[in-house]
Amino acid sequence: MSKQILILPGDGIGPEIVAEAVKVLQLANEKFDLGLELSFDQLGGAAYEQYGVPLADETLARARAADAILLGAVGGPQWDAIDPALRPERGLLKIRSQLGLFANLRPAILYPQLADASSLKPEVVAGLDILIVRELTGGIYFGSPRESRVLENGERMAFDTLPYSESEIRRIARVGFDMARVRGSKLCSVDKANVLASSQLWRKQFDVMVTDNMFGDILSDEASMLTGSIGMLPSASLDADNKGMYEPCHGSAPDIAGQGIANPLATILSVSMMLRYSFSQSQAAAAIEQAVSKVLDQGLRTGDIHCVGTTKVGTAAMGDAVVEALRSL
Ligand code: IPM
Ligand code: MG
Repeated sequence: MSKQILILPGDGIGPEIVAEAVKVLQLANEKFDLGLELSFDQLGGAAYEQYGVPLADETLARARAADAILLGAVGGPQWDAIDPALRPERGLLKIRSQLGLFANLRPAILYPQLADASSLKPEVVAGLDILIVRELTGGIYFGSPRESRVLENGERMAFDTLPYSESEIRRIARVGFDMARVRGSKLCSVDKANVLASSQLWRKQFDVMVTDNMFGDILSDEASMLTGSIGMLPSASLDADNKGMYEPCHGSAPDIAGQGIANPLATILSVSMMLRYSFSQSQAAAAIEQAVSKVLDQGLRTGDIHCVGTTKVGTAAMGDAVVEALRSL
């Protein structure tokens, strides 16, 4: 039976990078006979323009019915002034939460070819291969109450709430431990237990743990500097049955959207994660990773990872090079 993939390109550079990832996905589909069927819809600002909301009910229904979802990125300055409840990001948070995608896996791997693009010295960062396990459907992103109001003295104030229940902690910790077991058996806790009650609850239950929604967001941005560029970081957001949504860790980069210069590799590597985690197609997944490594060997670089002695290419040229490399494997 065929597997249904729902593609949500989103906003900003989303459509450009997703177009390249789709080329790679289609080739992998033929080459490895994966039986995937692709369909497209909108999320974020693009959905707001088309449906009046950042995630339409029919899109959510399609996402529920799909076997996996590939997402670009959402957001942009043109939606800064609209009702906060309709902002593009709300669509992303809603699809994550409605589909129960609580486990967000964000691997940060340094390709040796990009060692010079890292913020750390090559000899320090060599061999970097870390996995951030980010809780994705709880914490401060979803906590209530949240409020923004004017105090009696005329001053504006706002607050958010950071709640975590034991069961939410337990299920993400289990993913962290399971992942640690098949890697180096080391799990590192990122929290603020010396101040925050929510962090203290995590610590009471486990000596070691993974990271909550907000720390995970910040950490993955920081980890990207080690890998040379946030344009290199893929991610998988999984539910309890490994149904997943796959998306690059970076945002919609409105400042460079439409110029054909964005790095599509994080989205292409997200396709590889999809084949590995949702469809257990580790051979096809590894082939995509090899193809990415091969184009880096060829010296091809988008602007974010470009350095002296390499060849600067645009989004489509990078995608085409990965397709060619995959074809020739
Ligand atoms: C990410 C993004 C999102 C997040 C935004 C776009 C809501 O930064 O996936 O890391 O904060 O989760
Ligand atoms: Mg982020």
